Amino acid sequence: MKAIAHTKYGQPDVLELVDIEKPIPQDDEVLIKVRASSINAAEWYGMVGLPIARIGGGLFKPKDTRLGVDYSGIVEAVGKNRNDFKVGDEVFGARTGAYAEYVCVKNIIIPKPKNITFEEAASVPTAAITALQGLRDFGKIQAGQKVLINGASGGVGHFAVQIAKAFDTEVTAVCSTKNIEIARSSGADHVVDYTKENFTNNVQKYDLLLDVSGTHSWSEYKRVLKPDTHFVIVGAPKGTPVIGPLAHVIKIKVGSWRASQKVEFFIAKFNKDDMNLLKEFLETGKLRPFVEKTYPLSQTAEAMRLFGRGHIRGKIVLTM
Ligand SMILES: NC(=O)c1ccc[n+]([C@@H]2O[C@H](COP(=O)([O-])OP(=O)(O)OC[C@H]3O[C@@H](n4cnc5c(N)ncnc54)[C@H](OP(=O)(O)O)[C@@H]3O)[C@@H](O)[C@H]2O)c1
Repeated sequence: MKAIAHTKYGQPDVLELVDIEKPIPQDDEVLIKVRASSINAAEWYGMVGLPIARIGGGLFKPKDTRLGVDYSGIVEAVGKNRNDFKVGDEVFGARTGAYAEYVCVKNIIIPKPKNITFEEAASVPTAAITALQGLRDFGKIQAGQKVLINGASGGVGHFAVQIAKAFDTEVTAVCSTKNIEIARSSGADHVVDYTKENFTNNVQKYDLLLDVSGTHSWSEYKRVLKPDTHFVIVGAPKGTPVIGPLAHVIKIKVGSWRASQKVEFFIAKFNKDDMNLLKEFLETGKLRPFVEKTYPLSQTAEAMRLFGRGHIRGKIVLTM
């Protein structure tokens, strides 16, 4: 089967389309013919080999040469101990090595909502579960709150706006001029164009701030946070060459150590309950993925280049 692999760290040119053995499912696994996958920052950092990530992932070259996590596809074979899926079922979920024609999956496999395409389904897992866990588990989101999403038009951000609306909050979305429309169509009540206005100078105060883009200092953020509220760090600019976005996390944590607000940084974790909740949101129309562009698997390097330039509307998807 065809798959994307990289035997060294670097810019997207290191990605190769290779022929490898088609996987055979274990008794407790399901073999999926992948129809689509999507691009997230995790793949970008895995590809470039951020020094701090090399400690576990291979110092000089990647230990795991495969990339990709999010997938959607069709069940092609089922291990003899599985009775929850059958051949032909349409599914989506998460599995490392998803930039490939087939994956074997044990845990994160969920029936695909019928009202969305394979491309849309593959755009959801990583970005939407991050938005959900950031808002609900770390931000303690409550109906009626004023919520601000800084970085509201990309993968995580456009899902965060919609999930915050699903929790009945009043949402302010921050993005650039070209992406105002996607923030509005995601349901934001207010949109701030960061190229024209610095929201941290506004008088409005928020109960929860989800910081997807990490573009301000703690002294700026705290100006717009009510006391005893939640500030959740999701992401940050690429930062220093050694620890990347963690540089921003450390600065915010140090700057806020005496603050009344609860400042959280987290790494999203997949679980079936949250994936099933996202499926429900998709089926009821509370979550509508936006895919800016799709590329065939053979053009993964091109797709990564576009992702690396930033300012994507929603998600970039690969098709197999
Ligand atoms: N903690 C976790 O578990 C987790 C999981 C997934 C991702 N992440 C992190 O989350 C971040 C976003 O990921 P993504 O996939 O959503 O990336 P993305 O699609 O590239 O989105 C980046 C967002 O940042 C916005 N942005 C850029 N410059 C900005 C500025 N100066 N002010 C305000 N917003 C600005 C962009 O808006 P415009 O396009 O309009 O400029 C866009 O909405 C990354 O840092 C990633 O590493 C963390």
